[in-house]
Amino acid sequence: MNKKQAKNRIEKLKKVIAHERYLYHVLDKSGISDTALDSLKNELQKLESKYPEFITPDSPTQRVGGDVLDKFAKVTHYVPMLSLFDSFTQDDIKDWETRIIKLLDDFALLKRSGYFCELKLDGLAMSLVYENGVFVQGATRGDGKIGEDVTNNLKTIESIPLKLRVPEKEELNKLGLSLESVKEILKSRIEIRGEVIMTLAGFNEINKKYKNMGKQLLSNPRNGAAGSVRQLDPRVAHERNLDFYAYEIVTKMGQKTRYQANKLVEFFGFKVVPQNKLCKDVNDIFKLHDKWDKKRDELPFECDGLVIKVNNYDLWKKLGIVGKGPKYMMAYKFSAEQVTTKVFDVNWQVGRTGTITPVAKLEPVSVAGVIVSNATLHNMDEINRLGLKIGDTVILERAGDVIPKIVRVLDKLRSGKEKNIKEPDNCPICEKNVVKLKGQVAFKCINKNCYAVNLRNLTHWASKKALDIDGLGPKIVEILNKNGLVSDVADFYSLKKEDLLALEGFQEKSVNNLLDSINLKKEIPLEKFLYALGIHHVGEETAILLAKKLGFENMKAFDLVSKVLKMSQNDLINIKDIGEKVAKSIKEWFLSEYNLKILKKLDKKGVCIKKLDNKDVSKDKIFSDKIFVLTGSLSQLTREQAKDKIRKLGGIIGSGISAKSDYLVVGKNAGSKLEKAKKLNIKVISEFELMQKI
Ligand code: IVH
Repeated sequence: MNKKQAKNRIEKLKKVIAHERYLYHVLDKSGISDTALDSLKNELQKLESKYPEFITPDSPTQRVGGDVLDKFAKVTHYVPMLSLFDSFTQDDIKDWETRIIKLLDDFALLKRSGYFCELKLDGLAMSLVYENGVFVQGATRGDGKIGEDVTNNLKTIESIPLKLRVPEKEELNKLGLSLESVKEILKSRIEIRGEVIMTLAGFNEINKKYKNMGKQLLSNPRNGAAGSVRQLDPRVAHERNLDFYAYEIVTKMGQKTRYQANKLVEFFGFKVVPQNKLCKDVNDIFKLHDKWDKKRDELPFECDGLVIKVNNYDLWKKLGIVGKGPKYMMAYKFSAEQVTTKVFDVNWQVGRTGTITPVAKLEPVSVAGVIVSNATLHNMDEINRLGLKIGDTVILERAGDVIPKIVRVLDKLRSGKEKNIKEPDNCPICEKNVVKLKGQVAFKCINKNCYAVNLRNLTHWASKKALDIDGLGPKIVEILNKNGLVSDVADFYSLKKEDLLALEGFQEKSVNNLLDSINLKKEIPLEKFLYALGIHHVGEETAILLAKKLGFENMKAFDLVSKVLKMSQNDLINIKDIGEKVAKSIKEWFLSEYNLKILKKLDKKGVCIKKLDNKDVSKDKIFSDKIFVLTGSLSQLTREQAKDKIRKLGGIIGSGISAKSDYLVVGKNAGSKLEKAKKLNIKVISEFELMQKI
């Protein structure tokens, strides 16, 4: 990006960020997610540090806090309430440490005293003032210098002591402080800072109540907390069950480290976050970050990262402040579930059924702990729905086990050079014309010999949900295919040791393992076999339903043909969750000469169909034939575990909501399925309710 482009981009970023911040912090409305906004701010900060001449005083990187609402009395913060600088990677933290070491003449003290690491709660920062030990004033951060007086609302929060507890002599002695001097200081003005939050349990409870009352629901716990504290009527704050965790004593009482201060606030009667921990070095910090990044769902509140604080207060003085924040602290964010990135191209990929799918090529970005550089766009309709062009900045989301997806285009960031995405005329692999079938949104390559289609079929056969053949991943399949050893799935069973050893990079041990694992998968459970065939529209779930209908006895591969063809179109449609389109596709597959040839070949190689493994299926089929659809990310179970449990109890997993669905199980960040389910009056249950049923 040249200087002129950077200037342009900076202007656009500033506008979008300012607008979104106003929505979020002032009006307490969610525009885009906090983490997506962070990505934009991060991009702006990077551009500004490259071109400092474009930094203006109104840039979002230059200011502190949210705006002050007029309705509350103003409170001046004698010690400004600052903001934190954000880090996202281990390298950011290492760079920060290098920077602060350079500023210190005695970095041995830093090494000795370490870093106090705290969970970064997602609520509202608060300053609490006590006079003579009595709570007299509570204020929001506001713009950092002037906040709002919300004392009455804070008085409704049980975890804020109205009178400070006087610590025991022994407690203070352990910290090297004397009771007499602390008692003396307690007589004057003491300021404590911390975060007002709404716990997840509190948030769910209040929304359940509001739902029953027909009131508008709170959008998330942070907005719930912010909205309640900034209400003129303290009864609202009271009913919302807020909580407060202290993270700083502004008043000096002889505490030398952040570790000691943490203990001290606890002695005064405040809650401190129990997961906070003293870390000796950056590696310790990385371990703690990794632990809570993975286990953040187990916390009772929303938490978006760690705050790393230099432990020793003498070093705070030496390091000082720069711009909006202290140099001795750093926020180290957890990997976000929503980030922003750019689409630099769209490729068309051929799937195993010949369907041609657009895939967005992204500037690589870390989302929910994984580096993502591709995102499927499904079809042209999806591209049109998003209004996506090549060159666009987009919001990318990855929640739970769900594959990353583009959820929004930030069109206000366009430079004018973005390009429209063209529909494909030819298959990107075999270059033959593609067709668009009547009434369908997808393009298809109908060339039966298309290399990509064939390759996908082979890969699909060995894939985890199909035969799950160890060591036979897409790369190996491609090598076998390119070297002419495997053209169809039956060829896997003709592979010879010497043929494999002749291939570059194939060693004796891995070849033996590969052949063993292929042989192990010669007896195939019927439902896996049906899925592995790659019949269009027959996913894992449909394969199970079809297998149940066909019966469970052992049989040869070719026996399947007469069994399936004996069924009428109606017989097939009568199977729950199978519609006309799927039924037609099943019939067509078993009428294709090419496919029949493969089945015969499989029989010759000794591949056979095994009775469905029934031992895991519960006798108590409480979900018998009920269709469950899952949406959002689950916290107790993985999606696969949840599906498995439902199936074992006789339930069926549906991929989308339709009038036939019985239950929608909703996790975090539920998508459009939830709205559709509500419209169709489908019963919606939480993961917790599902667990209870199980
Ligand atoms: S220390 C320089 N410690 O994060 C500001 N802040 O992005 C120092 N926050 O306004 C605050 N948990 O609302 C600190 N353990 C923690 C925190 C924490 C959450 C919030 C706080 C602050 C914001 C800064």
